[in-house]
Amino acid sequence: MATIIETKDLTKIYGGKVKAVDKLNIKIEEGEIYGLLGPNGAGKTTTINMLTTRIAPTSGTANVGGFDITRRSLDVRKLIGVVPQDFTADEDLTGRENMMMVSQFYDVPKAKAIETCGVLLKMVELDDAADRLVRTYSGGMRKRLELIIGLIHEPRILFLDEPTLGLDVQTRTQMWNYVKEIQKRLNVTIILTSHYLEEIDELANMVSIIDRGKVLITGTPTELKESLKGDIISLTLVDQKSAELMKTVPDVLEVTDSGPNTVKIKVTNSDESLPKIINFISQHELSTVRLTVTKPTLDEVFLEYTGRSIREEEGGADARKFAMNMRRVRR
Ligand SMILES: Nc1ncnc2c1ncn2[C@@H]1O[C@H](COP(=O)(O)OP(=O)(O)OP(=O)(O)O)[C@@H](O)[C@H]1O
Ligand SMILES: [Mg+2]
Repeated sequence: MATIIETKDLTKIYGGKVKAVDKLNIKIEEGEIYGLLGPNGAGKTTTINMLTTRIAPTSGTANVGGFDITRRSLDVRKLIGVVPQDFTADEDLTGRENMMMVSQFYDVPKAKAIETCGVLLKMVELDDAADRLVRTYSGGMRKRLELIIGLIHEPRILFLDEPTLGLDVQTRTQMWNYVKEIQKRLNVTIILTSHYLEEIDELANMVSIIDRGKVLITGTPTELKESLKGDIISLTLVDQKSAELMKTVPDVLEVTDSGPNTVKIKVTNSDESLPKIINFISQHELSTVRLTVTKPTLDEVFLEYTGRSIREEEGGADARKFAMNMRRVRR
């Protein structure tokens, strides 16, 4: 695989004091869906804006598709598609008209644009609504339109800044399927920012957790989860005496009380430890009422590396932002 994006100490300081991106180093391989995961204000949009040449770095640099973002910004722009965090489509035009308009900015020959437009609209199932004014679209339809507008000139790299922000869970899942389909069929490299853990887990094959403009850790979602080394086996037994006995089970990280007749056993790897624990139970002729295994989620990974839960920052901020975006669109 070839590296398609590489940043070197990429830094953005706004107004001489707000360090939004702080010596960021990431490397993205061609064909990947690369996720930037971080809470509000982490520097995700600023990073995307620099990589897409919308704003200049304060220091450091990046190479996108073989070109330096500062010195060869025009070449970079031809290679990339951008779906910004905020809605940009003109709602007094139809979906198709919006796409055709953008195709002109990129000098796509008209016949080619008409063809690509048709294919893309079909891909996200907007073909039936293509000739309706965007103002009649639902939030999910707008997001789908924004997604394909970014692809009209057939870019090699697609930047998606919070593609499902403010969407309901069902619409979000639908959007994930479109993104996967697009990646597969068009073979584009996708850089995705999100503060939804499930989204990154579902879509990204590589992820960097960023906070306060810095990369805290990079890896595949599975690697990050496994790096925590802490599966939890929760066991409810018939009585407290049996539960107490479980505290003597060998070769585990930790056993703690967790409710009536229940213990939580922390192990490095549940696949390896579970047989041993079951063995222990049968040797001591104990009866189990319930047994569950929980593997760490990306939320726990986030907590481990940042010291706080990303969920605390979800919800309120999302709803506010979505409302703000909708107001902007309506004007
Ligand atoms: N134009 C600007 N001028 C000054 N400060 C800015 C500007 N844009 C962003 N910032 C600040 O830079 C930091 C990073 O913002 P950025 O928008 O990149 O974060 P983000 O990770 O995209 O957040 P969100 O999840 O809210 O979209 C924040 O502290 C923000 O307030
Ligand atoms: Mg942002």
